[in-house]
Amino acid sequence: MNTLEIQGLRLRLPRTARPVLDGVDLTVAARETVALVGESGSGKTLTSRTVLSLLPPGAVTEGTVRVAGDDVLTMTPDQLRRLRSGTAAMVFQDPRASINPLRRVGDFLTEGLRLGAGVAKAEATARAAEMLASVGLTSAALRQYPGQLSGGMLQRVMIAAALMGDPALILADEPTTALDVTTQAEVVALLGDLRERFGTGLLFVTHDLGLAAAISDRVYVMYAGRIAETGPAEALFARPRHPYTAALLASTPRLDAARGRLAAIDGQPPDLHEELTGCPFAPRCRHATDVCRETAPQQLPVPGEPAHLVSCHHSDQLEDRHQFEGSTADE
Ligand SMILES: Nc1ncnc2c1ncn2[C@@H]1O[C@H](COP(=O)(O)OP(=O)(O)O)[C@@H](O)[C@H]1O
Ligand SMILES: [Mg+2]
Repeated sequence: MNTLEIQGLRLRLPRTARPVLDGVDLTVAARETVALVGESGSGKTLTSRTVLSLLPPGAVTEGTVRVAGDDVLTMTPDQLRRLRSGTAAMVFQDPRASINPLRRVGDFLTEGLRLGAGVAKAEATARAAEMLASVGLTSAALRQYPGQLSGGMLQRVMIAAALMGDPALILADEPTTALDVTTQAEVVALLGDLRERFGTGLLFVTHDLGLAAAISDRVYVMYAGRIAETGPAEALFARPRHPYTAALLASTPRLDAARGRLAAIDGQPPDLHEELTGCPFAPRCRHATDVCRETAPQQLPVPGEPAHLVSCHHSDQLEDRHQFEGSTADE
């Protein structure tokens, strides 16, 4: 069974002309690291938050989102509480923004177990110390306040918190963006290591293709709330079949010049107030023809690569023309 199985997910927000997520299919197996990549505004955060049913006010969903077999979108508040303190855990971009600065790390780590599962304080604290050790921190951190820890240490605390409920799935939304490059590499290595040890699936959301290439087994490339291309990381980065993936790769800096944002692809992603006909990338695509402007492409396997799927009318034209030449994550 997949730890995460999203099928036909559509998400509409109030006062918009089209769904912000439009037919997303995405799976994560146990022990698998899956990257979800795309420019800012493509819908990555909304996708990962939907997995915990953390939706903006007025959001309307269609489709199914199963975590360890259970459909999140039809859960009762009680079931959702159990999901969020157990089966699935999220590590956010900015650890300092998602932790109460006035509470000790120990209280923060143990609250889920004590309130959610009714575990006694001593037992919860012992587990917290164990989880801190597994992320490379000593139990001294239990007594500290968030302000006394560096950003990297705090993100380790957030990862320890995610592990407290023995999750089947960890969602990490740009977990290293707020950290310096060295700490970033440590946190990424730690997540990979924990995934192996605890057997969790990991959905890693990032705009950084170099990072995605370095850590993931499979990749989903999102554009305007749709999956443009997905496949094994190696194949997708070596032989992208969607012009958007190729453009993202071409704009990924080889030397770490301007980290944090992708270098620009000409043009803008479509606004949520515009309706879309045809391929959402067509206005920015140099391969686009009339069919692209008129008809939305279907997601189809690349010939000879059953796990590599692409939504492009002209994907055959991209064959071996683009190579992924560098990674921002290997310096
Ligand atoms: N709470 C919200 N209310 C209204 N619009 C939102 C909300 N959250 C996100 N959006 C819009 O949805 C789109 C996708 O956002 P998001 O999932 O945050 O993208 P990403 O994480 O890929 O940068 C953006 O156009 C964003 O402005
Ligand atoms: Mg985001």
